[in-house]
Amino acid sequence: MAGERPVVAPGVVVLLLCCLAAPMVRGGGGGGGVQHNITSFLNGHPEYKLYNKYLTETRVCDEINARAAVTCLVLNDGAMATLVADAGESSLAGIKAALRLHSLLDYWDTKKLRSLTTTNLTDTFFQAAGDAMGTVKIAKLDSGDFGFASANKGAKFDATLVKAVKQTPYDFAVLEISAPIEFDGLFDVPDAANLTRLLEKAGCKRFAALVAGNPGVLKAYQAAMATGLTLFAPNDDAFVAKAGTPDVGKMEKDDLVRLLMYHAVPAYEPKPSLKLVKAGARPLRTLASTAAGEYNVTVVARGDDVSLDTGVRKSRVAATVLDEVPLCVLTVDSLLMPVELFADAPMPAPAPAPAMAPADAPLGSSSSSPPAPPPADAPSEVADHKAKHVKSTAAALRSIGAVAVALCSVVFASLL
Ligand SMILES: *[C@@H]1O[C@H](CO)[C@@H](O)[C@H](O)[C@H]1NC(C)=O
Ligand SMILES: *[C@@H]1O[C@H](CO)[C@@H](O)[C@H](O)[C@H]1NC(C)=O
Ligand SMILES: *[C@@H]1O[C@H](CO)[C@@H](O)[C@H](O)[C@H]1NC(C)=O
Ligand SMILES: *[C@@H]1O[C@H](CO)[C@@H](O)[C@H](O)[C@H]1NC(C)=O
Repeated sequence: MAGERPVVAPGVVVLLLCCLAAPMVRGGGGGGGVQHNITSFLNGHPEYKLYNKYLTETRVCDEINARAAVTCLVLNDGAMATLVADAGESSLAGIKAALRLHSLLDYWDTKKLRSLTTTNLTDTFFQAAGDAMGTVKIAKLDSGDFGFASANKGAKFDATLVKAVKQTPYDFAVLEISAPIEFDGLFDVPDAANLTRLLEKAGCKRFAALVAGNPGVLKAYQAAMATGLTLFAPNDDAFVAKAGTPDVGKMEKDDLVRLLMYHAVPAYEPKPSLKLVKAGARPLRTLASTAAGEYNVTVVARGDDVSLDTGVRKSRVAATVLDEVPLCVLTVDSLLMPVELFADAPMPAPAPAPAMAPADAPLGSSSSSPPAPPPADAPSEVADHKAKHVKSTAAALRSIGAVAVALCSVVFASLL
């Protein structure tokens, strides 16, 4: 439909009904088998305060909350203090690795533990990141205790079950264990000291060269890295072969600096956390943002797909290059073009709905533009492969909601 009034008018009633139904569909779909919130649950258990604090700081809570069939092996404050000391006080990235090892990708309750006849191996979030070392073994010990250890060769069952704190079949379990599960190398995190080299290796040579050519920008990135920085690095393809992409070589120096600062967000925002923006959109401040919120970028998520809406166009967040709290480097498929710099840039073929926000609208209003359907070729994350079938129904419900919302936007736009 072309959005001409006479054509749209007869459909208004039907579509308005869709609009009313959309929030309900989404509300139901958002639950979709995942009903738990580890943070609010542990808030009611002060003995796990330290564990909860680090789950939040490292954003591992977001991964746990997005997944059905998960078991959290929690530590009381004393045991958690041991883990923190082993990681080295300042190594938040090492603590994150350990917390992901303590998050089992399966539902384990006391009934299932009692049914164990042999040592069982179970996957964890750590392993889902592509590391073969992140498996945990579980066994009934001769003492009658249930033991937990790294599945690496020679690891001893130093940790045993203290008690089941929460068991919601087959979604969510919280089991307290007596000691941290660790192995040699658990706390070794990759060295991110040289950001430009990291970007080059990740297929972002053009972006790396631009950053290296603007030392002020690199300094600003490095300063932010101490407290929290997420870099959205355009890959080399993003600079070519896309309608409307500017020739960065011809940009004024000031504009180029603003553009580079726009690709950085002064907070730790790993992809699983960005995905949580289920309904609607969330504005993020960038290093280029003004107090008035100019140069904000808007996160839009649909299922496994995360995009950034600049007000001019959307860029898909592709790969995670580095996730080392408080630094995260993600690649994007196209250059982020802030509406403040590129309001009159020609847009690449837009998504089917014609009701895009006008390019000169205030940035904050971009949340009213209809969410685009996910591209058919969007790769899915390895980490989610097991949760996928559980969530497909929720995803289907969500996309029905999304279509309804998009149609609503069309109707409202044509009525204005
Ligand atoms: C989980 O609970 C915490 C604390 O109550 C809250 O801040 C957070 O937004 C909740 N997360 C989700 C995904 O609802
Ligand atoms: C042990 O692990 C295997 C997969 O390796 C699984 O099929 C089996 O159900 C597990 N046993 C128990 C008691 O959970
Ligand atoms: C970082 O890496 C780049 C490219 O590999 C190199 O040119 C530069 O000298 C390195 N910087 C430092 C401080 O090592
Ligand atoms: C910019 O982003 C910040 C941080 O999310 C938000 O508080 C603010 O409202 C945004 N401003 C606009 C104009 O979108």
